[in-house]
Amino acid sequence: MRYIKLENREFSEEVRRLQEDERYRKLKEYTQHGNISTYTHCLRVARKSRKLARRLHIRVNEKEMLKGAMLHDYFLYDWHDHGDKLHGYHHPHIALTNAKKDFGLTKREQNIIKSHMWPLTLTHIPRCREAVLVCIADKLCSLEETIRKDVKKLKPVS
Ligand SMILES: [Fe+2]
Ligand SMILES: [Fe+2]
Repeated sequence: MRYIKLENREFSEEVRRLQEDERYRKLKEYTQHGNISTYTHCLRVARKSRKLARRLHIRVNEKEMLKGAMLHDYFLYDWHDHGDKLHGYHHPHIALTNAKKDFGLTKREQNIIKSHMWPLTLTHIPRCREAVLVCIADKLCSLEETIRKDVKKLKPVS
């Protein structure tokens, strides 16, 4: 099963540190798409970003890319009942503020989070390879999670 692969694969220290952090684990309580939690979604985006970088032979700072991917949706609420019609536009900034406060971020990690909804957030442009990859990976994962019926098989890691 794919989720076992996800669990067994060697993830960076940073990813493991977040997975073990109580604050980060709150993301399990929020639904992102269908039956996928925000926690699972972020893990999937991290994994997909790394896969894209490796497949396309793009040199990246993997540690920063994975941390940015893991925290790109760290907005800490269920957007379905949050009542913000502009959630898509607002949440990168909320995630950035929360992630900065709880975990500290490099400039590159900040850009990854802030620009992941580009081109919706027109002026927040991905300015490094890591941000471009996370932006693409997020769209691919979101689409997959929204339309695939067997996506529950991707349910991972406790
Ligand atoms: Fe997002
Ligand atoms: Fe996302």
